[in-house]
Amino acid sequence: MTIKETIRKYTNELKFVTHIPAKEIEIFIMYLLKKNTIWLHLNYNKDFEQEKELEKLIKKRATNYPLEYIINKASFYGEVFIVEEGVLIPRPETELLIDKVLEVTKNMDNKKETINVLEIGTGSGVISVMLALLIENIKIIAVDINEKALELAKKNAIKHGVENKIEFRSSNLYTNIDETNIDLTVSNPPYIANEYKLPENVKFEPSNALFGGSIGDELLKDIIDQTSERNIKYLVCEMGYDQKNPLTSYLKDFDTKTFSFYQDYEKFDRGFTIQFKNKKGL
Ligand SMILES: C[S@@+](CC[C@H](N)C(=O)[O-])C[C@H]1O[C@@H](n2cnc3c(N)ncnc32)[C@H](O)[C@@H]1O
Repeated sequence: MTIKETIRKYTNELKFVTHIPAKEIEIFIMYLLKKNTIWLHLNYNKDFEQEKELEKLIKKRATNYPLEYIINKASFYGEVFIVEEGVLIPRPETELLIDKVLEVTKNMDNKKETINVLEIGTGSGVISVMLALLIENIKIIAVDINEKALELAKKNAIKHGVENKIEFRSSNLYTNIDETNIDLTVSNPPYIANEYKLPENVKFEPSNALFGGSIGDELLKDIIDQTSERNIKYLVCEMGYDQKNPLTSYLKDFDTKTFSFYQDYEKFDRGFTIQFKNKKGL
C-alpha cells in the first residue's frame, strides 16, 4: 500500500478524537519514517512498510491520548520542544505570556546589565527557554514541584543552547528562593478549579499542572501575595478566562503602580501584568 492509500485507510479511525485526522496520520508516518513534510509531499506514492507500527500509534491516539506525547514533540513560539508524559503539553495561548514579558522588559527604566527573572511552574521549560532565546541579558531561575518537569525543562534548555542562562530548581512557589535581585516573576500556574470536568484528552496530563484549588485561583493569589511581599517589581501571569473579576477585587488590597489584563486569540481574558510599587511607595 502506498503512503497516500495508508492515509486514506486510517483517517476514519481518528475522526472522533481530532478535527485533523488525515494530518495526524501524516504526522505519525513522518515520525515512524523520520522524515519531514517536504519528503512526505514528494513521496505520497511510495510504498509504506510500517503499517503494524502505525496501527499501534493510531490505536493509542484513538483513546484520546495526546499526539504530542506519542511523538514526544510540540511546537511553541515557532520552536520545537521535547514533551513527555507526566509534564504539561505547552498551549498556544501561553505564547502571549512571552509577548507580555517582552513588553515589560523592553520598557524597564534603566538599561540593566542583567534582567533577573523567576519562572514559577516551568513544566517543559518552554517559557524560560523562549525568554532566554529572545532576551540577551537575561538570567532565569525556573522552579517546579515536579522533578520530571525539571528534568525535561533542562533537556529543552540544552536542546536550544540556553542552559547557561537558566537555573532549574525544585521549589514550591518561593520556598527555595532566597535571591533578592529578582526583577520579574512570570508564571503559568495551575488555575483550573479542582472539581472542573476536564475534556478527555486533557485527562492524560498531570493533574498538579492543571488544578489550582477548589476555586481555581488560589495559587495565583499566593503568587501575587508572595511576589508583593518580596518586593519584586513585575508579575506576569496566565489565568483562567473567568478570573479577571475576582483577581481585580483581590488586587485592591495591594500597592500596585499599574495592572492590566490581556485576552487570548479567542478573546477570552487570559492573563495579567502587574507593576508593584516599591517599599517607598514609588
Ligand atoms: C500549567 S503548568 C505550566 C507549565 C509550563 N510553564 C507551560 O506554560 O507550559 C503549571 C506547572 O506548575 C507546576 N506547579 C504546580 N504547583 C506548583 C507549586 N506550588 N510550585 C511550583 N510549581 C508548581 C506544575 O508542576 C506544572 O509544571
